Amino acid sequence: MTVLEESSEILFNQKLTSDTCLMGLGSPGMAGTARPGQFVMVQVHPGNDPLLRRPFSICGTRADALLILYRVVGKGTSIMAEKRVGERVSLVGPLGRGFEQPEGKDMALLVAGGIGIAPLFFLAQTMEPTHYRFFAGFGTARDIIRAEDVAGDAGDVSLATDDGSEGYAGLVTGLLEAYLEPKGPGHDGISLFTCGPRPMLRKVALEAMARQIPCQVSLEAAMACGLGACQGCAVKAGTRERRPYYHVCSDGPVFPVSSIDWDCL
Ligand SMILES: Cc1cc2nc3c(=O)[nH]c(=O)nc-3n(C[C@H](O)[C@H](O)[C@H](O)COP(=O)(O)OP(=O)(O)OC[C@H]3O[C@@H](n4cnc5c(N)ncnc54)[C@H](O)[C@@H]3O)c2cc1C
Ligand code: FES
Repeated sequence: MTVLEESSEILFNQKLTSDTCLMGLGSPGMAGTARPGQFVMVQVHPGNDPLLRRPFSICGTRADALLILYRVVGKGTSIMAEKRVGERVSLVGPLGRGFEQPEGKDMALLVAGGIGIAPLFFLAQTMEPTHYRFFAGFGTARDIIRAEDVAGDAGDVSLATDDGSEGYAGLVTGLLEAYLEPKGPGHDGISLFTCGPRPMLRKVALEAMARQIPCQVSLEAAMACGLGACQGCAVKAGTRERRPYYHVCSDGPVFPVSSIDWDCL
């Protein structure tokens, strides 16, 4: 797949919660080819402060625009939150290996934690609503990123909040277990897709492996180049893999659960 560098116009930059924003970026070159699970490297400022581009999952496309859903956590994302419509940022992408789509009539279970919902919104938009269930967990009701604000056609999202202020009271993995438990040991035709904080990913991964459910995880790692050149984003591969490490940027960010050494993550 062709990787492009584009100077992209900011079409909108909308605050969704106290610390998350949705940015629309005019990108005719990438919007047509990007796949769910892929990401872009954003140069948030034309100078060299911050020096490094920041990686963001593509959370959807609208006509010639790429959507990025981002949480303000530090310098780069604070600069992004101040950007106005009409300003430009430089993008490199689409990068990485995205999600493999489930076969035929398989039921996909999408499990998101916090801002990890971004690539799963994109995945949901490419599937028939009857072919997936979407579970998303947030700290509290105020943190919820609502499907209708991002991807109107992402269907129903079953919500969990840690403090019980909306939806299921507890972790999103509790919602997943409640869905799987009555089905007993047989899980034919089910596949899992997940993105979120590492402890959540680990729990979903172990659950999937114990029940022998195919599962793809989207990982995050500190990234400098995003292109497989700097080795900064290495994660330890599972013991049965042919290689000791994978690069999250070029081998992932989406991996089958069995490819990763979950004891080291
Ligand atoms: C493939 C990929 C996809 C991503 N997709 C999204 C997305 O869709 N939306 C989104 O909001 N963020 C996403 N991230 C994380 C995002 O890249 C970081 O939050 C961002 O780079 C922080 O930049 P900053 O300059 O604001 O923060 P910095 O000033 O660089 O760091 C501030 C704090 O955030 C922590 N941090 C920085 N990068 C990461 C990271 N990759 N993972 C966890 N903690 C980090 C730092 O340790 C520090 O505590 C993704 C990361 C990767 C690797
Ligand atoms: S970020 Fe440089 S190798 Fe992955």
